[in-house]
Amino acid sequence: MFITESKKTNTDFNSIPDDLFGAIEALKQELNAVILVHYYQEPDIQDIADYLGDSLTLSRQAATTDADVIVFAGVHFMAETAKILNPNKLVLLPDLDAGCSMADGCPPEEFAAFKAAHPDHLVVCYVNCSAAVKAMSDIICTSSNAVEIVNQIPKDQPIIFAPDKNLGRYVSEQTGRDLVLWDGSCMIHEIFSEKKIVQLKIEHPQAEFIAHPECEEQVLRHADFIGSTRALFEYSERSAADKFIVGTEPGILYQMEKHMPQKQFIAAPATTCACNECPHMRLNTLEKLYLAMKNRGPEITIPEDIRIAALKPMQRMLELSAQISAVKQKQMLSSV
Ligand code: 13P
Ligand code: SF4
Repeated sequence: MFITESKKTNTDFNSIPDDLFGAIEALKQELNAVILVHYYQEPDIQDIADYLGDSLTLSRQAATTDADVIVFAGVHFMAETAKILNPNKLVLLPDLDAGCSMADGCPPEEFAAFKAAHPDHLVVCYVNCSAAVKAMSDIICTSSNAVEIVNQIPKDQPIIFAPDKNLGRYVSEQTGRDLVLWDGSCMIHEIFSEKKIVQLKIEHPQAEFIAHPECEEQVLRHADFIGSTRALFEYSERSAADKFIVGTEPGILYQMEKHMPQKQFIAAPATTCACNECPHMRLNTLEKLYLAMKNRGPEITIPEDIRIAALKPMQRMLELSAQISAVKQKQMLSSV
């Protein structure tokens, strides 16, 4: 069966084989596919990843893969980023409805007007935005490199930072730059409860609170460490602490517990009893991933003019972040 573009996901669940893991592996060989998985996916999907990572790691993998097919287990803007970098590859997303509240909160027409109102500003966009918004940007960043990227921009250059006001405010504090912020945020990182986190810290005085910069200011001010999803993982590995309260989507706890069974990880609580799993990320399932590979769809498509315009700021980010990593590595080596 061939899926047309309008089909958002596959529904032929009665054709799912018993050995789903084996069937996915066989399809991977047949398609010469690579499976890129974000940390916020369900554990079964994390287990079949060729590459598991945060947004920056996955963008780097997408930029260098020689596979013919990219299966992206993440959300739409991530798979779209892979397509921007690989126009001739088939990029599959298990469920096309796996969107992102932050990306959706920055519609291209409204962003065009915002940009026009600040004509002298350089536009730095967080990768969590649509291809059309990327196409209006000067440089893209992720939560791993936003601070360093803004630090590379000449001090007298005014900057728009979009679409996450929480990450933008954090970057502004870290760099001392006055950024013009788009009023957007992540529905998951905004629901952490300051009060409940403070209570948890009192109950577990030895625990370190580690949080993603998409969280609100009143939550971040209690954090012992702030970083991207991957940075949170790496910090918990090198920290001497053996207990952590983790302020991000709880999918990362699966990897933390798997790699550090001797340490304890507590998911930071939300303001209500609402679960803080990202409902967009969790639309993907192992079954949908299998069907997407079997049916070669749903696939990501982008109008070529938008793709070309979005490619330039993406490439700027990848080049700059490679330079930043090289400098960091040199500094690390010279300090040993
Ligand atoms: P990172 O992958 O950069 O940590 O971003 C988190 C996120 O919210 C992805 O949607
Ligand atoms: Fe978007 Fe937040 Fe979900 Fe990430 S965690 S995909 S930013 S809604």
